[in-house]
Amino acid sequence: MNFENILVEYDGRLATVIINRPKKLNALNKATIRELSKAFKALEKDKNIRAIILTGSGEKAFVAGADISEFANYSVKQGKELASKGQQNLFNLLENLSTPVIAAINGFALGGGLELAMACHFRLASDNAKMGLPEVSLGVIPGYGGTQRLPQLIGKGRAMELIMTAAMITAEKALSYGLVNYVVPQQELLSLSRKIAGKITNNSPVAISYAIKAVNKGFKSNAKGFETEINAFGSCFGTADFKEGTTAFLEKRKADFPGT
Ligand code: COA
Repeated sequence: MNFENILVEYDGRLATVIINRPKKLNALNKATIRELSKAFKALEKDKNIRAIILTGSGEKAFVAGADISEFANYSVKQGKELASKGQQNLFNLLENLSTPVIAAINGFALGGGLELAMACHFRLASDNAKMGLPEVSLGVIPGYGGTQRLPQLIGKGRAMELIMTAAMITAEKALSYGLVNYVVPQQELLSLSRKIAGKITNNSPVAISYAIKAVNKGFKSNAKGFETEINAFGSCFGTADFKEGTTAFLEKRKADFPGT
């Protein structure tokens, strides 16, 4: 498979998908989301592939969020569409993929980047990784399932604090919260991910796909939460706070929110 923004590498029964926009800290623009969606659909169909690792290129970032420069001028309708299409085509696809997907968080996983890692079946992080949902510092909310999956993974109180403060947490704190399963030095991240993936590929792919389905089904009662997130994400695009937040980011200055 040939892509512009991602790389797909094969090693026996294991595939590694690498988001490859290091100069933009692997920020998720629409083209990257489209390519990831295409790659995961193809990998799921490939019966030789029994596990997938998702990581970012370079040493600095897994994914530093959705591409702010792309959506700063969106309308409410476009904002809503961005969230709903993204959720449908990539984040929900990933969560429900019948092939296991492990996120190897090799640096910043912020906003859409953390949401992407949270849509994977489980996560490992390198010790330099920083995680957070900084959306409210831009005048918007997480729109790719973050308001639903973060409380699922770390509990409501911690998720509320992380979302409201827009704070970044260290890999060690993420480990203590259960957001990631392991923290290792960066040079060991892929080897440990491959080792764990290797254990998975020895097991029955049919049984694993049923296990994924069963685990996910237990969390399906929150469909209204995802819908509420999409609508609220869209509404943010009509606020003065959103204009100020995104403009301030692009102008590399601190936002001064009018509160309207
Ligand atoms: N969208 C678009 N571009 C982004 C981006 C994003 N989410 N995150 C980083 N970039 C770009 C920067 O604009 C910069 O581009 P430039 O070199 O053309 O100016 C480049 O990636 C490098 O980032 P920079 O900010 O210079 O690196 P840093 O080491 O000073 O800071 C971060 C790293 C992650 C703290 C900072 O990039 C950041 O805050 N990013 C946005 C995180 C965010 O709010 N994500 C949620 C989006 S909803």
